[in-house]
Amino acid sequence: MSYLETTKNVYKEAAENPQVGLCCTTTPVWQLPGLSIPKKMLDMNYGCGSTVNPRDLVNNPKILYVGVGGGMELLQFAYFSRQKDGVIGVDVVDEMLQVSKDNFAIAEKDNAWFSSDFVKLVKGDALNLPIENNSIDIAAQNCLFNIFKHDDLKKALQEMYRVLKPRGRLVLSDPTCEQRIPGKLRDDERLRALCLSGSLPLKDYIKMITDTGFGTVEIRAKRPYRILDPVNYDTDELIFIESVEVCAIKDPMPADGPCVFTGKTAIYYGMEDFFDDMKGHFLMPNQPLAVCDKTAGALKGLNRNDIFISESTWFYDGGGCC
Ligand SMILES: C[S@@+](CC[C@H](N)C(=O)[O-])C[C@H]1O[C@@H](n2cnc3c(N)ncnc32)[C@H](O)[C@@H]1O
Repeated sequence: MSYLETTKNVYKEAAENPQVGLCCTTTPVWQLPGLSIPKKMLDMNYGCGSTVNPRDLVNNPKILYVGVGGGMELLQFAYFSRQKDGVIGVDVVDEMLQVSKDNFAIAEKDNAWFSSDFVKLVKGDALNLPIENNSIDIAAQNCLFNIFKHDDLKKALQEMYRVLKPRGRLVLSDPTCEQRIPGKLRDDERLRALCLSGSLPLKDYIKMITDTGFGTVEIRAKRPYRILDPVNYDTDELIFIESVEVCAIKDPMPADGPCVFTGKTAIYYGMEDFFDDMKGHFLMPNQPLAVCDKTAGALKGLNRNDIFISESTWFYDGGGCC
């Protein structure tokens, strides 16, 4: 049996018997006026962050969500889109599709604004999406792509890129790990399916995304997630896993490479009215300007004593140009 089959079986089980604590994160669940999330959906929150950001949801976007789980994030997306088929949910596990459908029926009773037909559930595989090219504004996945091995992750990202409209956004939440995870843990199909041993270092994860063609990447959050310890896992050392929230935008690839925003800010504190790097960045005295890592590096390379560049905050929520 392949690890993809093991993954399906793990989530068939997780659909039939909700497992509180599978994945699970410190990201707060959205509390919004009039939004009531059924308990079963909360129990089946199998994500490791949030992919729902109201700032992405302007201009009546068409939303795709891959790997539906109990449906909580689809309900949250539907809160903003509120139209028939406004959110398309794709999952490869029949039982998960059925449970999420049941959960939407409960949500319909608890939420006057919600109708189950706001969400269209479709059976399909992240590696071969049953979705037309260039048809989606916002594509999201939470805690699925980290399970995929290199070639499958590449394919899953290519599929998201294919279905997104130009300038469309891919919002991802996944565990990442800066340590080398031992091969025996990486090859443990169940641990991988439980989002515990497939993670990549953040730099490699971002490179997979930009190699797919996404010209802009934003790191929106990075949080402590799990510890794999020598008593409970086959490892000689403690392994620290984080979870990240990332937005990748299908912008054209800049000639000098992708813009990756990790939360760096440039502040000019010189005596002139402004500083112009002649590449589109105007720094006004003592006004912070969010810059991508490429621009931060270029400004630092000027070795000026009147420009301060902050470290990455790993919390970027807009406001930059690059
Ligand atoms: C860790 S759960 C995350 C669920 C949901 N995103 C959440 O945040 O609660 C992974 C989800 O991906 C689904 N899944 C597993 N393999 C898949 C595949 N190859 N294509 C699409 N969905 C898949 C599972 O059935 C499950 O719903």
